[in-house]
Amino acid sequence: MNQTILLNKRPFGKPLLTDFKIVSEEKPEIEAGEILLKTSYVSVDPYLRGRMSEAKSYVAPFELDKPMSSGVIALVVESRHSGFSTGDYISGSLEWKEYQKSNGEGLYKVDANKAPLSAYLGVLGMTGLTAFLGLTEIGKPKKGETVVVSGAAGAVGSVAGQIAKILGCRVVGIAGTDEKVEMLKSDFGFDVAINYRTTGNMRKAIATACPDGVDVYFDNVGGAISEAVLVKINNFARIVVCGAISIYNETSLPKSLSVQPFRIKNRALMQGFIINDYAAKFPRAMVQLSQWLAEGNLTYTETIVEGFEQIPQAFFDLFEGKNTGKMVVKV
Ligand SMILES: NC(=O)c1ccc[n+]([C@@H]2O[C@H](COP(=O)([O-])OP(=O)(O)OC[C@H]3O[C@@H](n4cnc5c(N)ncnc54)[C@H](OP(=O)(O)O)[C@@H]3O)[C@@H](O)[C@H]2O)c1
Repeated sequence: MNQTILLNKRPFGKPLLTDFKIVSEEKPEIEAGEILLKTSYVSVDPYLRGRMSEAKSYVAPFELDKPMSSGVIALVVESRHSGFSTGDYISGSLEWKEYQKSNGEGLYKVDANKAPLSAYLGVLGMTGLTAFLGLTEIGKPKKGETVVVSGAAGAVGSVAGQIAKILGCRVVGIAGTDEKVEMLKSDFGFDVAINYRTTGNMRKAIATACPDGVDVYFDNVGGAISEAVLVKINNFARIVVCGAISIYNETSLPKSLSVQPFRIKNRALMQGFIINDYAAKFPRAMVQLSQWLAEGNLTYTETIVEGFEQIPQAFFDLFEGKNTGKMVVKV
């Protein structure tokens, strides 16, 4: 049998298990020009929450009673396509199915000998590219500047912070547990790390951690954490608005501090970022990320959950901070 996960209901607030439905269907038969894929790893990502709602966005919403999809690493188990052989591993945006067929469009081969397969969903995949391109294209950090990263122990944040260190910056990370804070300093070389859940006064904590102010803010979370950072920005600061996970499950727009006066006074740039807009720069970014990994200047961590039916729970766990580094499901 071939299990598939469908969108059953559009969530209101926090997604629930009943918003998904697992069904069994026949394994597909392939025709000329097609390949049969067996899913190996599935990426769960905060942005999927947006696609579960009906709201208009940069990518179309998931359809009810249709399979969910995300970044997937799969093994080619049968090929009638000249570009792919049985035994190849591929990466692409694919459906949450144990087996599926494809005509190969949008898929690229990954090399299991060069890096663990799961890394192609993280540091050598969408989240690593997001960290690199968001930071370098919008943040443009200069040696000696102070860079603050929220969601710092996650897939994007942990890589963004390390890249800022490689570029010679002082790096401050914000994360949600003492273990994550310790890891940011000991494993990823952050200069300072703040646990936002136990720090009573975030503005004070940021002021202490950034005595020279904030030059670049790589924002993965939005909300109150970001307000505390934004009041400490320096002249000509750059704010990379990458994610806002703290508000993805809100059912109404939260009241927030008006940051305009701080931005005007400091002539700060605040720019939203969507990784898909930078596709032309992926090859160069991949070369750089691979080189830093090979040299040992960049490292990564992952949270790997096992079992196809665990995909929804792994997705929910992102919103509870249960992952460290990239959250991936091994099928
Ligand atoms: N713009 C783009 O193209 C793009 C691409 C990829 C990702 N993103 C965005 O980047 C952000 C990070 O994505 P990711 O894939 O790397 O996920 P991730 O950081 O690996 O996982 C999510 C993390 O968010 C933190 N979190 C959850 N709820 C929070 C809250 N209420 N307040 C503060 N932190 C909270 C948790 O860590 P703690 O334990 O620290 O709370 C959790 O581990 C997301 O907002 C995502 O949407 C954007």
